[in-house]
Amino acid sequence: MSSAPDRNIGLELVRVTESAALAAAPWMGRNKKNEADKAAVDAMRLMLNTVEMDGVIVIGEGEKDKAPMLFNGERIGNYNAGWDVPKCDLAVDPIDGTRPLALGLPNSIAVVALAERGSMFFPGPIVYMDKLAVGPEAAGVIDLNAPVADNLNAIAKAKGKSVTELVVVVLDRPRHEQLISEIRATGARLKLITDGDVAPSIAACLPNTGVDVLMGAGGAPEAVVSASALKCMRGEIHARLYPRDEKEKLLAEEMGYDTNRVYTSAELVKSDNVFFAATGITDGELMRGVHYSSQGATTESLAMRSSSGTMRRIIATHRTEKLQQILSDQRERMAEREKRG
Ligand code: FBP
Repeated sequence: MSSAPDRNIGLELVRVTESAALAAAPWMGRNKKNEADKAAVDAMRLMLNTVEMDGVIVIGEGEKDKAPMLFNGERIGNYNAGWDVPKCDLAVDPIDGTRPLALGLPNSIAVVALAERGSMFFPGPIVYMDKLAVGPEAAGVIDLNAPVADNLNAIAKAKGKSVTELVVVVLDRPRHEQLISEIRATGARLKLITDGDVAPSIAACLPNTGVDVLMGAGGAPEAVVSASALKCMRGEIHARLYPRDEKEKLLAEEMGYDTNRVYTSAELVKSDNVFFAATGITDGELMRGVHYSSQGATTESLAMRSSSGTMRRIIATHRTEKLQQILSDQRERMAEREKRG
């Protein structure tokens, strides 16, 4: 019998996202998406392997653009720690916002979510999901099957605002032309973003971020990542598989997926024992990115746990030589482990 993941794991996850962010940050603005991704993936894998757990990557990221990745089904963690380590599912996104990072633009973050084994939804080969995400006040009033105007009216009412005061975040993509005009027709304010729909889903749960709702189709892995964070923050996300064409739709159906079904946060992540951590890589509205000084680097992170509802904002200073030491020690341990098989 393995034990349930406990509260320490949440703080260990911050070390994981900090490492990914620190590894990715030197690539800011260098227009090398794959190199940045590889650095973040390697650092994340190294640190995840120090966490005492028997983890499986359910949501690895990278298939969409053939980027380096922590692959789906990969076993991860220090599972030979010598005690009944918890069995966990993991959803990882070492860089959500590889393009903004490559161009030196805001809102690139490193994220990881963890929950009990068997609890995370696997979207299979489907790249996108249609999403509707809100914070706690509006959690009970959304319905992805309802018209945009009905949702925005219900959200505004729940938040004690008028629709014209709402800010809706949407990825700026041609696929959202119709959605954008429906939102505009309600009079709601719109914020079009170039990339990164995890951060605005979280922002919708926090006061004074200037974000009320996230709408539109984005990465399917990111839907599960966002659901993990939103479960911790009592927000809600509805998501529906969004096949890009008839071929993808048929494939999904052959694999047993119902492409009409709307998944709630509780269905995307079934566990009530969810941990989530994120660290800013470039500066964003949610967190500051990695900054350097003569001492080393500073990071800003969020750490959350669903069962307690605690959210921590952690600002850390990392001494350069210490960082290098940790990573090289860890690499040696990994090499030894691989040799042992
Ligand atoms: P990556 O940086 O991890 O590739 O994802 C960025 C992102 O903007 C996600 O946040 C979003 O869900 C998805 O890509 C949208 O996909 P696309 O850019 O193909 O519309």
